[in-house]
Amino acid sequence: MRIPRYKRVVDALAAELRSGRWPVGTRLPTHRELAAREGIALVTATRVYAELEAMGLVTGEQGRGTFVRDTALLSGQGIDEQLVATDAVDLRFNYPAVPGQADLLRQALRELSTAGDLESLLHYQPHAGRLEARTAVARHLGRRGLTVDAAQVLIVSGAQHGLAVTAMAMLRRGDVVAVDSLTYTGFKVLAGTLGLELVATSDLDELCLRRPVRAVYTMPTLHNPLGTVMSLKARKRLVATARRHGLLIIEDAAYAYLVEDCPPPLAALAPERTVYVSSLSKSVATGLRVGFVVAPEVPPIERVIRATTWNTPALNVALVRRWLEDGTVDRLEAHKRTDAHMRQAIARDVFAGLPVRSHPSSYFLWLPLAENARADRIAASLARQRISVSTAEQFATTALVPQALRLALGSVPVPELRRALTTVRSVMGDDAYH
Ligand SMILES: Cc1ncc(COP(=O)(O)O)c(C=O)c1O
Repeated sequence: MRIPRYKRVVDALAAELRSGRWPVGTRLPTHRELAAREGIALVTATRVYAELEAMGLVTGEQGRGTFVRDTALLSGQGIDEQLVATDAVDLRFNYPAVPGQADLLRQALRELSTAGDLESLLHYQPHAGRLEARTAVARHLGRRGLTVDAAQVLIVSGAQHGLAVTAMAMLRRGDVVAVDSLTYTGFKVLAGTLGLELVATSDLDELCLRRPVRAVYTMPTLHNPLGTVMSLKARKRLVATARRHGLLIIEDAAYAYLVEDCPPPLAALAPERTVYVSSLSKSVATGLRVGFVVAPEVPPIERVIRATTWNTPALNVALVRRWLEDGTVDRLEAHKRTDAHMRQAIARDVFAGLPVRSHPSSYFLWLPLAENARADRIAASLARQRISVSTAEQFATTALVPQALRLALGSVPVPELRRALTTVRSVMGDDAYH
């Protein structure tokens, strides 16, 4: 498909502006200068600046010129405080909850308070967690098709922490990590922090022949943001490539619980080289900050847990352990699968006729836009209507960022969800992909 000239200029300028190379407040070329430089008509140059302004990247001042705007408050990678205004409908972040969870917490705290073992919760814990908790996690993973020994399980403070301790223990600054061209934002942030080079590929073998790839980061069961589930054949191919080139596999299973019948985890297919990371954030509650890592080699990761948190807070782990042992986690997972399924059905109904990408029981949805559409502009219009959405920017690992929205379906009450999605559809208007 041919991309109009003005849009290519917009994309190139947007990439430069986002790179932070030009300090905030820098005066940009006049419309006439831009037209001459790019070989475009003056009216096209004006249109380019209008697009950039609509994206929030520049600000035009009558009679003074066009200036670089402070995008710190717009960047999806900003450490997400600006996130979502409290009065906004949040279609950016998933913190799925089902009715009655606060009561579950109340009851568990009451029971814990009379359990007689409180004293021990006041002390430092082993870095990887106590054996009872690691055993409870190992049993839980057995129900996800991953048979592991408790000694291979490390309790961490959420999957993000699990990814961080894995990367810190196993990778070095400058290491090349193969990723998808759209990947989980938190891994991008982590790679940026640790100086890892993320290289997008759809042909891992080919990449390994060209570059010294050290690891591959992947979400085989429920890819965020696309919702795909890797087939058994593709998993086996990935494992074979990883073995051939001596790669570490980092398997992120944060959303895996949403898919009931899926091929075995990569950690089951290649236990000798796979670090499996997951958590109870999406299945139980994000605020608990309890996750787990299964690793072929535990001590290096244990050392990084010691260096970062020492141990995951004992009180949270004690709660989670009860819920793992008494079946609460299994029940919540089943409930949330149904909930996600119902929300996904609403979304598919609202976006009927559009080529959405998602899984039928996923808590998110990927909405490609027409080639000429500007996802930032749609996101900005929605923000003015107090609806917060993500664009592809946060997930992209290549310079060519697709125009798309990613909608999180799990955090908004159902009636509000339908209303908000209907607004998204109407704001998209002609920018929907046809
Ligand atoms: C794919 C993926 N991995 C990891 C995480 C981090 O999860 P946690 O809240 O357990 O740190 C998320 C959170 O959204 C995620 O989507």
